[in-house]
Amino acid sequence: MRLDKYLGDTALLTRKEAAEAIRRGRVTVEGAAGPCKPNQNIDPASDVVLLDGEVLRYQTCHYLMLHKPAGFITATEGSTLTVMDLVPKVSKNLFPVGRLDKDTEGLLLITDDGSLGHRLLSPKHHVGKTYEVHTRAPLSGEDLDRLRSGVDIGEKELTLPAEAAMDGEGHLLLTLYEGRYHQVKRMLLAVGNEVVYLKRLSFGPLQLGDLTLGACRELTEEEAEALRNA
Ligand code: URA
Repeated sequence: MRLDKYLGDTALLTRKEAAEAIRRGRVTVEGAAGPCKPNQNIDPASDVVLLDGEVLRYQTCHYLMLHKPAGFITATEGSTLTVMDLVPKVSKNLFPVGRLDKDTEGLLLITDDGSLGHRLLSPKHHVGKTYEVHTRAPLSGEDLDRLRSGVDIGEKELTLPAEAAMDGEGHLLLTLYEGRYHQVKRMLLAVGNEVVYLKRLSFGPLQLGDLTLGACRELTEEEAEALRNA
């Protein structure tokens, strides 16, 4: 691969910026003799390339986990704050996988891996998503049973079977295997209740854990692998 293309892929430099960085001596290829050239060939698998003394890592796709706060819309652009304002610009093609409402908090996967994103959202895949739900009124055992077996949210089909249980704090933990518009809120309305706070705790094999509200991190290799196998 040409060195300027490699700099484009790893450091998001344009061809012109890459040529300029090389000309200014900001780029070094470990072990190579003489000054670098934009059109010189490097092997991304074995060559170590540094920009301003920092080793560049070649990664074809990026996988990020965001702890979305309320107040941000799930979109790649818009006139108001979007989740992308909270995400480092590691790639030009990042997009959120699925959506959380503006007032919902929690785990949002952001990637530039288009085929994985589509696969995870496909109704065929039924990736489980667990939500912590605070409701206006307490839920009865009968309400939980109804949420588990499927409720009428005004569409042709009832909701698919879900998991519903109360946590130690008296909040509902609801795991869904589909993703319809405002699904959690509409399911709670269907049992005569109302969501007052909503947070997504997990998405497939990914767990939000103790990631700080508003923070974003790269998935570990194990997490990315588990997601690809989900
Ligand atoms: N269900 C909802 O109602 N809202 C969300 O943000 C996610 C799931």
